[in-house]
Amino acid sequence: MKGGLGWFMVLCWAVLSGVESAAAGSKPNIIILIGDDLSPREFPPYDTGVWSSTDEETTDSPKYRARTPMMDKMAKEGVFFDRYWSTPICASSRGMMMTGRYATITKWWHNFDYGSWVDENGEIGDIVPLWITSPLGIGQLATAAGYGTFWGGRAGMKDVDNLEKFGFGQGVFVPAPQEVPPSPLSDFQVVGRGRDENGNKKLINLDTGKVEPGARAHRSYTWLPHVLLFNPPKGDEEQDGRLVYYPNTEETREAYNMGTFGPDVDMDVTKAFMETCTEDDKPFFLYATSRIGHKAFDFLNGKVDTWPPTPKLWWNPKTQRYVKQESVITGEAGNYTTSGTNKGGIRRHVEYLDYTLWQFEEKCKELGILNNTVIIFATDNGTKGYGKAVERKQRGPHVPLFVYAPGLGMTKKGRSHELASSVDLLPTVADLMGVSDLLDGYEIHGESLYPYLFGDAEKHTRTYNFSYMTRFAGHFQLIRGSYVMKDGANRWYDVREEKRDMDDYPRIFDWQALPQESRDELKRLRAVLDEFDVYDTEHDYVPSLP
Ligand SMILES: *[C@@H]1O[C@H](CO)[C@@H](O)[C@H](O)[C@H]1NC(C)=O
Ligand SMILES: *[C@@H]1O[C@H](CO)[C@@H](O)[C@H](O)[C@H]1NC(C)=O
Ligand SMILES: *[C@@H]1O[C@H](CO)[C@@H](O)[C@H](O)[C@H]1NC(C)=O
Ligand SMILES: *[C@@H]1O[C@H](CO)[C@@H](O)[C@H](O)[C@H]1NC(C)=O
Repeated sequence: MKGGLGWFMVLCWAVLSGVESAAAGSKPNIIILIGDDLSPREFPPYDTGVWSSTDEETTDSPKYRARTPMMDKMAKEGVFFDRYWSTPICASSRGMMMTGRYATITKWWHNFDYGSWVDENGEIGDIVPLWITSPLGIGQLATAAGYGTFWGGRAGMKDVDNLEKFGFGQGVFVPAPQEVPPSPLSDFQVVGRGRDENGNKKLINLDTGKVEPGARAHRSYTWLPHVLLFNPPKGDEEQDGRLVYYPNTEETREAYNMGTFGPDVDMDVTKAFMETCTEDDKPFFLYATSRIGHKAFDFLNGKVDTWPPTPKLWWNPKTQRYVKQESVITGEAGNYTTSGTNKGGIRRHVEYLDYTLWQFEEKCKELGILNNTVIIFATDNGTKGYGKAVERKQRGPHVPLFVYAPGLGMTKKGRSHELASSVDLLPTVADLMGVSDLLDGYEIHGESLYPYLFGDAEKHTRTYNFSYMTRFAGHFQLIRGSYVMKDGANRWYDVREEKRDMDDYPRIFDWQALPQESRDELKRLRAVLDEFDVYDTEHDYVPSLP
């Protein structure tokens, strides 16, 4: 913890100087935090009555319940949506968030299924980059609006060599993307090495040298993390470059050890970016795509496919502050002693995300810019294992969305039942940045939430109310309207009445027993499904003629 008086003086200075940066007319700072693989039910504000246990079972045990004071506040003072959809799988969801478009244009259909393309040299590529199908992504818009841009967390873009083309000036990736070699500084890695007697790929934990049946190739995003900096501020001479492994300075090299937690490094670098922009009087756009929430190999306990331990946190209700204990990890080769870490589990990951959001708020307060900052939190797709089959009901695409902007005059508060989609993020951000005119004549599927969140609009009226999904082998579509919903197994549900667990909707067998509105909506949604049913005919990217 920082010393009392010095910290107080910094705060006073920040509050005074903040009056200026929050002056009317200045563009708001925007922070988007995306958690990984987490359904709304894991977040207490949704009050679902049930959530996921560490074994991916549905439980109502308080033992597995996260405590989220920061999200509770965001839900109360900002808006949180309970009918917000993405897709059931991360790559297509991330494509939607970054472009405002469905896979019908991005060609990012699934984690294992992308449109192919031909580049300017006539080379055929298997994965068309998002910046080719969709040149006006959130990063490009932010840059055009004069924002400082930063991408923190995981990249997941299959295209690390061209990160600038996404419109981001700087970033930190935890873990370093699979497209670049792993960090030479960490053997917390599981790698494929040859085949066993049955011809299956052998996966080896490089820390212990042991074969790990059931593991997947993995590099640590938690302890002794594989971190890659993208256009970092000048570090050591010999390490300067666009892509640099962390630690890259004498100071950070000294501090880096097994007790170094990847997302903490991510936060340190992010805070430095927020400081620099504020000093330069530049609004910032921070796109923080955290790995937290995703299951992984736990190197401290040699456990496969689990939510690894995180730093020990404690919320002080009196001071309304989090306290993080220092993590100390000693030992070697899979035999570790830890202090200041918890045992992990999904609940701890949700709590670490809450701590992350709290740190953003604290940093903004310290910089005197909280009144001119929007903090958005969402995830990419539902919790791993929840429902087992991704196409069932809305379990895959249904995700949380919180928008919190104290000081910017949000006109709505609390829980919202409006239908919204992750394609709405881009036009919302464009409105906040004052550059929505750049989208004139550029096709997107999203509709801005701005008039609803900050204006007089009573409803957020979406044209499609729609989430679209394809599968590796064959494809399916999911759609949800105000009255009815279709899942990936072609079953329709009556969603007129919201269920507490946001899952237990009655299946529709007899359409005649439903009111006319439901049948009308069925027709409308079927037309939308038909319109977007282009997977077989428009799978790949074909440039439009000039
Ligand atoms: C921020 O807003 C709060 C509440 O409206 C106000 O009390 C405070 O003075 C504002 N701070 C700055 C720095 O504008
Ligand atoms: C693990 O480390 C402890 C302390 O260093 C040591 O006493 C113990 O023998 C080790 N166990 C194994 C299985 O290597
Ligand atoms: C979300 O996507 C991940 C892959 O990124 C997958 O492992 C997980 O099962 C998905 N969750 C659901 C509910 O479909
Ligand atoms: C859903 O979309 C239809 C148009 O297709 C629109 O009339 C309706 O208002 C939308 N519903 C909501 C809740 O936005």
